[in-house]
Amino acid sequence: LGEKRQSSRLQDKNIIVTAGPTREKIDGVRFLSNYSSGKMGFAIACAAARRGADVTLITGPVSLPTPEGVRRIDIETACDMQREVQRIASGCDIFIGAAAVADYRPAETVTGKIKKTSETIALSLIRNPDILAGFSAEKKTHQLAVGFSLETENGLGYAAEKLRAKNLDLIAYNTYDGETSGFEVDTNALTLIDRQGTTTELPLLTKRDAAIRLLDAIESLLSRPDN
Ligand code: CTP
Ligand code: CA
Repeated sequence: LGEKRQSSRLQDKNIIVTAGPTREKIDGVRFLSNYSSGKMGFAIACAAARRGADVTLITGPVSLPTPEGVRRIDIETACDMQREVQRIASGCDIFIGAAAVADYRPAETVTGKIKKTSETIALSLIRNPDILAGFSAEKKTHQLAVGFSLETENGLGYAAEKLRAKNLDLIAYNTYDGETSGFEVDTNALTLIDRQGTTTELPLLTKRDAAIRLLDAIESLLSRPDN
């Protein structure tokens, strides 16, 4: 415990981890967001740095300390996150999308503050870019793309579908029960599905241990002859 593992296949690999929520501005004082705490992404970044990887953590607003040895870039919106990813994506070996990226953003951001002049107002939203799918679409054969899939129903089915649709090498299906698994809590129940369809159901673990198991799975992908 504590010391860097000498034999890791992640040694000197360039890894990008996205983490936390994004904030999508409604007006000068309000935003749309979600309950992501960033804990899972930060745990992954921390564990990867301990294995000697060169880690860049691109994170939305969270209240977590930067893990030791990790380069941290703070962003607010999904578009900002995508811009930062694109800046460094070509030099990256492994992209791990652990961020809870807002799927939509307000079609326009009002300058100043919206006043409550009427009983109802409508907010028009437009789709945000898919950062993980964008990385995958451009990825070279040596690059790996790893995603998360937080689902409340038909989890395995949706996760397998995302693995295929986003051309991922591995996806971690995250069960969400609002108590022991999902946002804010310190534990997580993940099921890993790789591009061959091999499915590994992990027990309920601390996010730290879940991160370790996820990195172990990535290391075994790296050891395959097609990599
Ligand atoms: N993701 C991303 N950019 C987005 C949306 C999602 O990079 N704009 C990434 C997440 O970080 C995660 C994966 O894609 O690794 C799956 O995210 P998820 O929200 O589960 O899936 P979506 O494709 O957004 O589909 P839906 O929300 O409808 O289930
Ligand atoms: Ca989504």
